[in-house]
Amino acid sequence: MQPLYEGKAKRLYATEDPNVLRMEYKDDATAFNALKKAQFENKGRMNKAITLLIYKMLEAKGVTTHLVGDIDDINLTVKKVSILPLEVIVRNIAAGSFSKRMGVAEGTKFTKPIVEFSYKDDALGDPFINDDYARELGAGSEEDCEYLRQQAKIVNEVLIDFFKQVGLTLVDFKIEFGRLAEDPTKIVLADEISPDTCRLWDIETGAKMDKDRFRQDLGNVMEAYEEVLKRLQENS
Ligand code: TMP
Ligand code: ASP
Repeated sequence: MQPLYEGKAKRLYATEDPNVLRMEYKDDATAFNALKKAQFENKGRMNKAITLLIYKMLEAKGVTTHLVGDIDDINLTVKKVSILPLEVIVRNIAAGSFSKRMGVAEGTKFTKPIVEFSYKDDALGDPFINDDYARELGAGSEEDCEYLRQQAKIVNEVLIDFFKQVGLTLVDFKIEFGRLAEDPTKIVLADEISPDTCRLWDIETGAKMDKDRFRQDLGNVMEAYEEVLKRLQENS
């Protein structure tokens, strides 16, 4: 069966319901706009399981998502959406591109979360944008941006607490949103939430438990993902 869409880490397939798609999680990993590539056995399985746990928990807290249901090890069913071309990034602690761009030491805590937007365009390298850019690029209206910012802050509060319960600090994360095919006036949380899209540090040891292990060649990438999944499963 041919996918309708193939991204860097997932594939989307049609189902018998035109408003529902099957999302398959791949073992491929990329970093730095796909300059760095690798495959990790079981990454798809772990990211699917972690995303499923997190999305169920977010739904229970009143956050609407595209999740429909679980199929198997690497597949979920999701509502068909049209993804807004915006990556919404929330930062609680300085790391990654923030530290690099601003010259602020990794680990510096912010007084309040930072919410920022990137324009989803690989050819442009997903550039940093603000609400005015989003409006003029047709990526999202001012009201949409305000809604995304508000939802992102809620997701952040819920996730900080969720990860804290399993001994992990939520440093930052990226989320995406989509308009429902069945009702484009509704914007819901879409895509994955996993160690590919979050920075997670072990509260006791400070160890990095996310894709930075791959980006920075720290080794034991899948061991870290497995540990995150194990802790979340034990706590649920
Ligand atoms: P950054 O510090 O590289 O901007 O990343 C911020 C957060 O967003 C971090 O948790 C990793 C995540 N992220 C993605 O999920 N996809 C991406 O393409 C990028 C650049 C970051
Ligand atoms: N996901 C992005 C890429 O492929 C970047 C990253 O997560 O570092 O290249």
